[in-house]
Parts: sequence; C-alpha cells; structure tokens
Amino acid sequence: MIDKITSFNPAFEGLVPSSTLFINETVNDLWQQGEQAFHMGFGESRFDVHPRLKASLIDNANKKSYLPARGLPQLIDRVADYYSAKLEIPFSSSQVIVGPGSKSLIYGLQMILNADLFLPTPSWVSYAPQAQLLGNKVSYVPSAVEDNYQLDIDALDVLVKNSDNPRKLLIINSPNNPTGAVMSDAFIKQLADYCRANDIWVLSDEIYFQVCHGEVEHVSIAKYYPEGTFVFGGLSKHLSVGGWRVGVALFPDTELGKQLLEKMVVFASETWSGVSAPIQYAAIEAYQQHDDVEQYVVDCCAIHGIRTGFIRKELVKLGVRCTSAQGGFYIAANFDSFSDGLSKLGINTAAQLARHLLDEYHIATLPGSDFGIPEHTQTLRLSTSYLDMETEFDSQRLYDLYNGGLGSKSLMGIDNHPVTHGALSAFAQFIKTIC
Ligand SMILES: Cc1ncc(COP(=O)(O)O)c(C=O)c1O
Repeated sequence: MIDKITSFNPAFEGLVPSSTLFINETVNDLWQQGEQAFHMGFGESRFDVHPRLKASLIDNANKKSYLPARGLPQLIDRVADYYSAKLEIPFSSSQVIVGPGSKSLIYGLQMILNADLFLPTPSWVSYAPQAQLLGNKVSYVPSAVEDNYQLDIDALDVLVKNSDNPRKLLIINSPNNPTGAVMSDAFIKQLADYCRANDIWVLSDEIYFQVCHGEVEHVSIAKYYPEGTFVFGGLSKHLSVGGWRVGVALFPDTELGKQLLEKMVVFASETWSGVSAPIQYAAIEAYQQHDDVEQYVVDCCAIHGIRTGFIRKELVKLGVRCTSAQGGFYIAANFDSFSDGLSKLGINTAAQLARHLLDEYHIATLPGSDFGIPEHTQTLRLSTSYLDMETEFDSQRLYDLYNGGLGSKSLMGIDNHPVTHGALSAFAQFIKTIC
C-alpha cells in the first residue's frame, strides 16, 4: 500500500526548505495576522521594475513558443556583450547560458562537475544543500570574525590537500552574501594563482556585482583565471526582479568549457526547458546598456549603500561587531562579546539568538549557522533591503526622495525611515538585557 512507503531518497536527510524563503514566509504570516515585524531576514531588493523592462514585458506577452534550452539567441548575444563591457573581459555568445535564476544554474554546474566542493565560511545558504542533494562532499574553509571572515588561502589549501577527488570546485561570492565584503583585486589575483596551480574550478557567483558601494571595486576572478572560472549572475539583485527568475552563466572559452556548457544545455533541456519566453524578451532591455537603465541601477545601488551603511554604523555604536558591508545589502553581525549576557538568557547558539529576537522583539534575521558559521558563534545575517520598503509605495517614495536630491542624513532620518529606527531601538532594548 502506498502509505507504507516511508523512506525516500537519503540525499534529503536533514534538509529543510531554504531558510531564506522560510523566514520570508514566517514574516509574511506575522504581517497577515496584523503583527509588527522588522524584516531583516530576506535579501530582496524592493525597487520597482524599470519602465523599459515593464513595457517590454507587456509588449512581449504574446511570445508563447518554447525557446532554445540555452536561451533566446538575441538575449545571449546581449549578455555576452554586457559582461565583456562590464567585467572588461572578452566573452562570446558561445560561452553563455540563460536559466531560471542563477540558483538552478549553480545546481546544474555542481551536478555536471561532480566535484568536491570548497566553501568559504560563511557562504550563501544554498550551495551546500545543493551539493548534499547531489552527493558531493562539502568542506567549509575556516575563517575568523576578527578578519572580517576573509577567505584564508592557507586554510583552503589544507582542505584541498585532504581531498583525493581530482575534481575540485571552489565557490566564491563577491560582493558577499552574508558579509557584504568585496574581494580586492590583489586578493583575487592571489586566489586565481592558487586555483590554477591546484587545478581547482571556480564558480564565481557575481550576482551582486552591480551593487558595490564604491569602497572596493568589483573584479572578477575570470580576469586572472579565465580558463577555470564560471561567472554566474542574473537580474534579481540590481534590477529587483528576483521573481522574474532570470539567471546567466558564462563558461570558460576552452574546449572543456564548451563540453561542459553542452552538458548544461542537456540539463536545461531535460528539466526547465527554457526560461519563460516573455521574460527572456524583456530581459534583453536589461542587457542593452541603456543610459536610463544603467542610471537606475546606480541609484538603487547608492540607496542600498546608504541604508546598509547607516544600519551598520548604528549597530556598531551599540557594541555589535559588524562586517564591512562594501556591497550588496547584508551585514554579518556578531554578538560574541555579549556571550555572558546571552547565556544568562539561555542563548548559546546563533539559531537560539535569532529565535529570541523574533519572538521577543519581532526582528527577523537568519543565524550565521545557516551560512556555515559554527553554531556557537553568535553571528546573524541581517538583510537591510526590506526595512521601510515593505510596500511598492514605500520603496518608490524613498527612491523619489533620493532622486530629488535629499542628502543621506535626511534620507535616513526617522521620518523617512521609521521602521529602520524602530528596528534599531528594538536592538538597543535587547542589548540592554545582555550587557
Ligand atoms: C549569493 C546569491 N547567489 C545566488 C542567488 C540566487 O539568485 P537567483 O536565483 O534569483 O538568480 C542569491 C539569491 O538570494 C544569492 O544571494
């Protein structure tokens, strides 16, 4: 009888729905019940869809045929041109594939390479579960909060030397989710030399490269290690269209790179078939380098930078150790210096800390342990993209104020950012209880 079948694929052992999506649903439930919740749990850029993209999507609503599994050829051409211009690395169309979000493409590459996976600590929540689903071994490279969680190449080397799998994959993500750190040019070069010398593939997740706050310039590792690097990106972050599900991957321009891309096309054609046709036509506008779209991306990025910088500064004033937040809309906030006060409240893990903040202060965050940070380290991932941008009206209002020339001090005032100030005073109340 069907209800007697109680065991499933063991690859799913211990896996639960992605914590980012879970916290988002939890907060939405609270809001629906009329509760206040400070949503720092989900990294979703909240700005409006750019009018050009919107108009193009409407114009292309009648595009209803299946498209090639690798993607719409005109879109692929524009993606190659765009990345060549932005990263200052020549890419040809033959290196590009378009998929339903970069998440699915990352899964596809992990499946194809079937490699031992090396992840910096911390790393985005989905890389490791994807590897687990595929039966690939995962090793987190230890790092220190004191070093801003910078990847340590010597520590990586120890793990690499312990792996007897000839296929090795390192995933890097700069600007980084959850730390907001941007890898420097000098570091990227050093890492490229190391990976080349040790035959390590690099999946360079550059989905936030258009959201750099200016302190450190984005450099792709493909600049120094083109033959071993897969560049991944998409529209979700800098154009605020995560729900459109458009991701791209650019494979190395080598014979092996071509063969691997063919395998990715097999994977695409046997699973998602192709990204929705109207969306692909509309996405062309995002890769045309129109001046107005480019300016929109710059403005949205600047607003993310102002908001993230403000929240970071205020938390540091409260005594919370925060990562540098040079890009994206995230801060990794560490509470280890309050460990005595925390343990008096029975809080000994980051998950307990996140739970306490949600239950007692309605602050939604994610524990650093979801990102591979050891669970007794009291680090939380705070996302800054949602506060005071809960509705389309709110995000448009802030965009208009910024665009109208309002300075960052006034923009971040309590009148314009009441929820952010509310979240910070909730943090201040909490800190009083653990000092
Ligand atoms: C670091 C990182 N990589 C990849 C993704 C996946 O983005 P998408 O599948 O929307 O392209 C996300 C989304 O949160 C992310 O933060």
